[in-house]
Amino acid sequence: MSKEILLLSGPNLDLLGERNPEIYGSTTLAEHVARFGALATSEGYTVRHVQSNFEGDLIEQVHAARGRSTAIVINAGALTHSSWALADALATFTGAKIEVHLSNPAAREPFRHHSTLAAVVDGSIAGFGAVSYDLALEAVVRLDANT
Ligand code: DQA
Repeated sequence: MSKEILLLSGPNLDLLGERNPEIYGSTTLAEHVARFGALATSEGYTVRHVQSNFEGDLIEQVHAARGRSTAIVINAGALTHSSWALADALATFTGAKIEVHLSNPAAREPFRHHSTLAAVVDGSIAGFGAVSYDLALEAVVRLDANT
């Protein structure tokens, strides 16, 4: 049975392609997910992707991943900067956890400089557009190889 990666997308990421293309590019979320999925398949993983604009949905997906998924790759959108509840949920997941961002929040508005998730994930990848997701998969593969 192949190992599952839970790919989580937070609020407003469903608008990728239309939303601030000068920051996030013109690639849609479906295209990012397809690219991530193809790469993951070539590494022997399956991907379960969930996008939600609701914090509680994302928390419940993290709970459901416990004991089921090998890794969580999460772009929590703006919840990255505010959600202690999502951070608490992620802290209960013992597999690999990678925070990912298309843009580089550290180079943007001050409210984006802090991540509530950073302290509970293995690492964060930001600022490389679609390549951020490729690098997140690479991180999962390497972390998984060390467990
Ligand atoms: C984002 C960065 C966040 O600050 C923002 O709220 C997003 C997208 C990114 O992928 O660059 O929605 O997570």
